[in-house]
Amino acid sequence: MSRKNLMSPSILSGDFWRLGEQISELEKADVEWLHIDVMDGVFVDSISYGMPVIRSLRPKTSLFFDAHLMIIEPERYIKVIADCGADSITFHYEATKDVQGCIAEIKAAGKQAGIAIKPDTPVIDIIPYLEQLDMVLVMTVNPGFGGQKLIPECFEKVREIRTIADEMGLTDLNIQVDGGINTENVTIALDSGANIIVAGSAVFRDSITDNINKFCEKL
Ligand code: DX5
Ligand code: ZN
Repeated sequence: MSRKNLMSPSILSGDFWRLGEQISELEKADVEWLHIDVMDGVFVDSISYGMPVIRSLRPKTSLFFDAHLMIIEPERYIKVIADCGADSITFHYEATKDVQGCIAEIKAAGKQAGIAIKPDTPVIDIIPYLEQLDMVLVMTVNPGFGGQKLIPECFEKVREIRTIADEMGLTDLNIQVDGGINTENVTIALDSGANIIVAGSAVFRDSITDNINKFCEKL
């Protein structure tokens, strides 16, 4: 089994004046993934950043770029986000009428494919796609902003997906949790079957190195 437990710090909570320094600090703390939230102000209320940011970070770091697209009709942007240097592209199930087409587009670009589901979206909706996916992102808050409080019921969905994936023999499937994750609740996330841990505010407040070390003790 090649599935690993990993942190994917979300730069949404970063300090954009010092983003390069902060990413270097993550690398020194042995972080491997970087979570990049792309928001369009339509699928979610907020607007974050997109192609120019990914493109400018790409040559500066070898971190694995985990792009989380919170945009409607993600099919319009998959290729360009891939070309900017994302390694994994996760789109929202709720944001497109063409889930199959989105997966195909990500695969055609040679990238890892993920589907994200909001807290109210049932697991059953994404099961037909499971075999084709590298990752499922179970949102543990309603997407749109960092620093929200986690909705604990979402862990039940993680458990459900992990059970179904195991039954299907999909032991390498990554399950990511995103939203309100901290060093107090990360163990519950892992016990539920999540293995990729996104954290924004719990990583970027105070000392990044100390925060990552605290998370890593629990992974
Ligand atoms: C929220 C984003 C998250 C966000 C997490 O919609 O998808 O990635 O940055 O931030 P925290 O960990 O502060 O909830
Ligand atoms: Zn995210």
